[in-house]
Order: sequence, then C-alpha cells, then structure tokens
Amino acid sequence: MPKPTGERRDPVSCIPMLGRTLLLSILAVGLLLLLLVSALTTFGTPQPVVINGTAAPPLPTLNPAAVAEGERLYAHYCASCHGANLEGAPDWKVRLPDGSFPPPPQDSSGHTWHHADSLLLTVIREGGDPAENLRMPAFGDRLSDDEIRAILTFFKSRWGEEERTFQWWITVTSGE
Ligand code: HEC
Repeated sequence: MPKPTGERRDPVSCIPMLGRTLLLSILAVGLLLLLLVSALTTFGTPQPVVINGTAAPPLPTLNPAAVAEGERLYAHYCASCHGANLEGAPDWKVRLPDGSFPPPPQDSSGHTWHHADSLLLTVIREGGDPAENLRMPAFGDRLSDDEIRAILTFFKSRWGEEERTFQWWITVTSGE
C-alpha cells in the first residue's frame, strides 16, 4: 500500500502564528461587543415587575405635569397635617389621648405605599371611618378624582424605587 502523499494538516495550524492571534483578538472583541450590546438593551428596556411569582407590566413613568399639580394641591389641602415635606407626625403609630392616630407620613417611611391606588382614592375621597376613630377628613366634596390622582402621582414621585415598584405591583395585581 503506498503511503498517502502529503501530510494531513490541522487546518488551524495552517494559519500562521500572527494571523491566528489576530483572528482570536477579533473574536474576543466581537464577543465583548455582543455582551455589551445585550447588557445595554436589557437595562434600557423596561422589565416586568415580578413579585411572589406574579408579574405586572413594567413600572410606568410619571407625568411631570401631574406631579406638579399634585404638589400644589398637597401644599394647599394636606400639608397642614401630613407635613410640608410629607414627614407626618413624629409618633404617628402611637394613639393620642383621645384614641385617634396622628397623621402618618406620605413618604417612603409611611404606610400609604402599601395600598393600591383604588383603596387610597377611596380613603382620600371618603376619609377615615369615625367609628374607628380615624380622623382623616373626606375630600370628595373639594377634590375631583383626577385631582386626587395627581396628589397620588406626587406621592409616587417621592417614594423610593422599592416602595414605588411594590405599590405599582399591588395596584395592578390586587384588582381593588
Ligand atoms: C386634619 C388633618 C388631615 C388633613 C388635612 C389630611 N389628612 Fe390624611 N390623615 C389624617 C390622619 C389623622 C390620618 C390617620 C387616620 C386615618 O387613616 O383616618 C390620615 C390618613 C391618611 C391616609 C391613609 C394612610 C395609610 O397608610 O393608610 C392617606 C392616604 C391620607 N391621609 C392622605 C391625605 C391627603 C391626600 C390629604 C390632602 C388631600 C390629607 N390626607 C389631608 C389627617 C389629615
């Protein structure tokens, strides 16, 4: 049997050393670019909010006009009790001598962000239940639902990312 003429050669080893290094560099740079582009598009695209395995659409951006309108209304109707800076009363969790609660904060340190929009709208429209000694006044005769929504939008603009995300999720998923 005659020996096969010519050696079989590994195709890669055909590429001269310099060419191979260049090829590997191009591949590495290409891979890095691909990773960078996919990372950028992931961060740039709004992601769904998933809490306890239940998904809500991505967090919407707030309308700046509504935030400004809400801030104006808040200063006029709410700040005297809930504080010029949404800080509420210092011991808002402790009942007063008459058995009622002092006004809570409306910022991230308060409780408002635990509730869905629909429930907050009802509380502000109808006030706290006097039978339970809750002293939040009713505003349904002075503020339209749109105005109350603007105040809520203002609150949202002041909440931290975590509080706002949770409140968005509960609003969408509770169906309240
Ligand atoms: C006269 C004082 C007073 C004014 C003015 C007032 N509040 Fe209140 N608010 C309270 C008190 C006291 C509570 C706690 C007791 C209760 O829930 O009724 C409360 C509770 C609330 C809650 C419930 C928070 C929670 O965690 O459940 C919201 C929301 C709220 N107020 C929003 C507003 C908004 C918006 C305005 C302005 C339109 C406003 N309040 C004006 C006294 C006031």
